[in-house]
Amino acid sequence: MVGPVQSASMTILLHPWLGEEGWLHALTAALPEETIRLCSDGEAKAWASGQGPLADVAADVEFVIAWRHPAPALAAYPNLQAILVTGAGVNQFVGPGFPAVPIIRLKDPTMAHEMAAYALHWIIRYQRGFDVTAAQQATRQWSPPRHGMASEFTIGVLGFGEIGSVIGRSAQALGYAVSAWSRTGGNDPTINHHAGLEELADFLAGADAIVNVLPSTDATRQILNADRFRQCRPDAILVNIGRGDTVSEPDLMAALDAGYLGRAVLDVTAVEPLPADSPLWSHPLVDITPHVAGMTQKRSAAEVIAANIRRLRAGQSPFPVFDPARGY
Ligand code: GLV
Repeated sequence: MVGPVQSASMTILLHPWLGEEGWLHALTAALPEETIRLCSDGEAKAWASGQGPLADVAADVEFVIAWRHPAPALAAYPNLQAILVTGAGVNQFVGPGFPAVPIIRLKDPTMAHEMAAYALHWIIRYQRGFDVTAAQQATRQWSPPRHGMASEFTIGVLGFGEIGSVIGRSAQALGYAVSAWSRTGGNDPTINHHAGLEELADFLAGADAIVNVLPSTDATRQILNADRFRQCRPDAILVNIGRGDTVSEPDLMAALDAGYLGRAVLDVTAVEPLPADSPLWSHPLVDITPHVAGMTQKRSAAEVIAANIRRLRAGQSPFPVFDPARGY
C-alpha cells in the first residue's frame, strides 16, 4: 500500500526507451492534469554521473516512468514515490543501488494478446507444416502436409500469470488442449494444471509445444537445462517469450542436436542483442526474433500507467506491484 501523494508542482519523469517517439504525447493525453518531464537517455546517464540539467528538477521527481533508468539517478531523487515500468518484466530495476520504492509492472492486455498471437503463430507454423509448404513453394510442389487435431495437441504454458493465462485462453479458443505450470497451480478444470518443481517433469513430458513466459528470478534462472530437456517430447517446440536466462542456451543446442527436443523459437536470449557470433543464429532448428513478441504499445500502455498514477494520487494501491520475495 502506498500513501497518498499530492502536490501540484511535482513532476513525473518520463524516460522512454531509447529512440521511442510519441510517449510524451500519449502520456500527456492520458494524464492532462500532471506535469510530465521528458528525460532522454543522455540526460539520465549524465544525471547518474552527477551532472546534467536534471539536477534542477531532482527534488520534484515523484514518479519515474521508464523501461530502464540508472540506479544512481533513481537513488538521488529524494521524493521518488514509485517507478512505473513500461514493460511487464522489471528485473532491470532489481539489484544493489536501486531505491526501495514500489516498482509497478505493466499489465497491459494489448501486450498479452500480442504475445499470444506470437506464440500461436510459431506453433501453428510447425504443427500445421507451413514451414514445409513454404519450402515446397520454391520448387512449385503441391503436396499437402498432414497434421493431427488441435484438441490432441497440447500447448503447455510455462508461467501461468497474467500473460500466460491469456495465451492459454487464446490457444483454447482455437481448439488446442492447454496445460499450465506455475509455482502454485490453478483450478480451471479446462486446463491441466501443474504446480511446483516436483510437477515440472510431468508438465514437460505432456506438452507438444512449450510456451515459456517465465520472468527472470532466482528460482527460474536456467530452469530449462539439460536435465529438463531430456524430459521433453522429442518433437516438442519450445517458444521462449519470457526471459532469456531461464534457458541454458548451450544445453538447448545440445538437446536439439541430440533430438531431445524438436525445435526452439527464441524471442529472448541470455544476452540481448544476441551477439553476432552466437551459434544460435545459424542453428537449423532455432528461429530468432529480436524481443518483439509483445511490444509495448504507447497509447494502450499510457492508459494503464495513467490509471496507476491516479490510484497512487488517491492513496490506493497500484497493480501489479513487483514483489521482491517472489522475484516478479
Ligand atoms: C518485455 O520483455 C517486457 O517485459 O515487457
